Amino acid sequence: SPPLGILVPLAEEAEALFALMRQDGATQTRRLGGRDYHSGSLFGRDCVLTLSRVGKVAAATATAGLVHEFGVGAVLNAGVAGGAAASVHVGDIVVGDAMLQHDLDARPIFPRFEVPLTGMSRFAADAVLGASLARATQAFLAEDLPALAPDIRAQFSLASPALHRGLVISGDRFVNGHADVAALRADVPDALAIEMESGAVAQVCHDYGVPFAVLRIISDSADDNAHVDFPRFLGLVASFYSHHIIRRFLQD
Ligand code: ADE
Repeated sequence: SPPLGILVPLAEEAEALFALMRQDGATQTRRLGGRDYHSGSLFGRDCVLTLSRVGKVAAATATAGLVHEFGVGAVLNAGVAGGAAASVHVGDIVVGDAMLQHDLDARPIFPRFEVPLTGMSRFAADAVLGASLARATQAFLAEDLPALAPDIRAQFSLASPALHRGLVISGDRFVNGHADVAALRADVPDALAIEMESGAVAQVCHDYGVPFAVLRIISDSADDNAHVDFPRFLGLVASFYSHHIIRRFLQD
C-alpha cells in the first residue's frame, strides 16, 4: 500500500518521531524545493515525514511534493495551534473535521473565505482517519499523558486536557492578541483552533483526491501572551504529544 505522508511544520513538533525513524536505520532523505522528505518505517508503516516550515505556501508545496514525488495514499498534518474557542485550552487536542482559510477574501468577486472557482470555503478531513486520530488521542490522554513529568504538567496546567473535534482555521499570520482572536471568533464562530498550514494541506489534498487528517495540539490561546506560551510549549511538550498520539494512530 502507498506510504502515509506526515507533514509537520517545525522540527520541534516531530523530534521524537523523527528520532525513531532514524533509529530504524532504513531511512532515506530526499531534498526537494529546499525541504527534506524522510522516507522510512514507523511502527511497521511506510511513512514519509517532511518538515514543511511555517505558512500556507510552504504547506501547499510540501503536500504537493508528498503527492507527486512520493505517491502518498494519505496525509497527516500534525502540529501545534492557538486555541480559538473559549472552551479550548492549552494542552487540549483538536482533531480537525474541516479546514478554512481565514485570510482568504476575494470579495466582492467571491464570498468571503471561498477558494475562488471551487465554490468551497470548508474542506472536510477524511472521516475514517479522523475517527482513528480521535481514538489515538483518547488513549494518549488516558495512558500516556500521566507519564509526562509532573513539573511539566504543573507548569502547563495539564491536569485534564480534552479532545475537541471540529473546525480548524488557517492563515498566514501568527495570532498574538486578544482583539485579533476575538475578531476571528466573531467572523468564524465555530472555529476551535488557529494555525498556519492545515487549510493549505486540505486544499491540495482535495485537488488531488488524497484523504487527509489534521491533529493540532493547543500551545497558546492566540492572545497577548501567545508569543511567550507558544515557544515554551513547543520546546517542552509538543514532541511528547505528537510522538505518542501518532504512535497510537499508526498502531490502530
Ligand atoms: N500556531 C500556534 N499558535 C498559533 C497562533 N497563535 N497563531 C497562529 N498559528 C499558531
